[in-house]
Amino acid sequence: MAVLVMLLVLLLTEPGFSQTNDHNNDTNVLIGKFCGRNAVASLPNFIKNRNTTLDDLRMQLLSKRVLYARAQTLNDGDSVYATVQCRNYLSVDQCVDCFDAGVSKLINCTAANGYISFDDCFIRYEDFAEFYNNPYFLMDGSGLQFLLCGNQSTSQPTTFNQLVDGVLSNIRDATPKTSNFYVASTRQNISENATVYATTQCIENINQAICRTCMNTTYDKLTDCFPSTQGSFSDMACFARYSETPFFNDNETMDITNILKGHSSKPVAIVVATVGGAVLCFLLWLLYRLWKKSKKTEQGDSISVLCMR
Ligand SMILES: *[C@@H]1O[C@H](CO)[C@@H](O)[C@H](O)[C@H]1NC(C)=O
Ligand SMILES: *[C@@H]1O[C@H](CO)[C@@H](O)[C@H](O)[C@H]1NC(C)=O
Ligand SMILES: *[C@@H]1O[C@H](CO)[C@@H](O)[C@H](O)[C@H]1NC(C)=O
Ligand SMILES: *[C@@H]1O[C@H](CO)[C@@H](O)[C@H](O)[C@H]1NC(C)=O
Ligand SMILES: *[C@@H]1O[C@H](CO)[C@@H](O)[C@H](O)[C@H]1NC(C)=O
Ligand SMILES: *[C@@H]1O[C@H](CO)[C@@H](O)[C@H](O)[C@H]1NC(C)=O
Ligand SMILES: *[C@@H]1O[C@H](CO)[C@@H](O)[C@H](O)[C@H]1NC(C)=O
Ligand SMILES: *[C@@H]1O[C@H](CO)[C@@H](O)[C@H](O)[C@H]1NC(C)=O
Repeated sequence: MAVLVMLLVLLLTEPGFSQTNDHNNDTNVLIGKFCGRNAVASLPNFIKNRNTTLDDLRMQLLSKRVLYARAQTLNDGDSVYATVQCRNYLSVDQCVDCFDAGVSKLINCTAANGYISFDDCFIRYEDFAEFYNNPYFLMDGSGLQFLLCGNQSTSQPTTFNQLVDGVLSNIRDATPKTSNFYVASTRQNISENATVYATTQCIENINQAICRTCMNTTYDKLTDCFPSTQGSFSDMACFARYSETPFFNDNETMDITNILKGHSSKPVAIVVATVGGAVLCFLLWLLYRLWKKSKKTEQGDSISVLCMR
């Protein structure tokens, strides 16, 4: 019995599938910042409300352990509406780091609207509710767009551009079909020793048609970065990035071939976790059976029932 308990403890405390990754802080590059010109009704009130709203966002990220949050502070004439979204390959703590970096850069922006976009996240606030309620209302081409191309050219332009073009056009098509409008993918040309890492993300509460339109824009803009080794593009409704250097772990990579064929897909990590869970269940069941046998009783085994979801 003691051996069984120890085995269980060992199995259950096995370093599991944690969220941490080796993503580096230093790679959180600023893509663009916008400090609007709209005047506020009362600056002290507005700043107070903006602080309250930004604090609310930060608290939501931390307490709900999420990568996307919205908050509003309603106040006659000085209401504030704000949104933050981090890229899905980040941990919540890395997301909060990005949020803090953004707030520190937005804090002296005292206009009624501000927007900042990094490789890792974006933050925006304003004194009107349209974007808050319906983030695609600005998608008429007049919205803010930021494109940032790396300042180094790849040493293998032909192969690399071909790779990037292939992965970008695939994730452009796949992203609107995913449940969370997010893809992380890589592509390799082994014989030429070339690899590209790419990610795309539409704003969470947007609709599929807008995500598709935004992805098309993204593809067109990012391909302008060729032959740079990296590029990032940020639009009102979406974001995309490619790089020769990895910026997410291999186990965050998604197999998008099924999505492109119209099926849903899961990140590799979930598949690994599911398989791991099944193996664990099987071991538990085996141990349970052995234990039962040693007690010479023959009743139904509740653990196997527990594992059959
Ligand atoms: C992915 O791999 C890294 C190490 O390379 C590990 O720390 C992390 O826990 C893994 N994440 C998942 C979701 O499996
Ligand atoms: C990011 O940098 C901040 C400040 O330099 C540090 O406190 C934090 O632990 C870093 N986060 C990660 C994930 O490295
Ligand atoms: C708003 O936040 C900034 C930065 O944290 C701080 O310097 C300022 O005093 C705050 N203003 C108010 C009115 O709370
Ligand atoms: C905010 O501060 C930065 C650097 O401290 C400065 O370059 C920028 O002009 C300031 N912006 C405003 C609107 O005051
Ligand atoms: C290229 O960009 C990096 C930051 O991404 C910067 O440190 C470096 O100075 C830039 N080099 C040139 C030649 O502009
Ligand atoms: C790898 O790159 C070479 C040179 O651009 C190209 O001829 C070849 O078709 C590529 N291989 C694959 C599998 O894409
Ligand atoms: C492949 O590329 C990597 C990184 O670009 C480099 O470190 C490595 O030496 C290359 N390998 C070969 C066989 O060229
Ligand atoms: C996006 O681009 C694809 C491929 O070029 C095209 O088939 C599709 O109609 C475009 N969608 C929108 C909404 O522009």
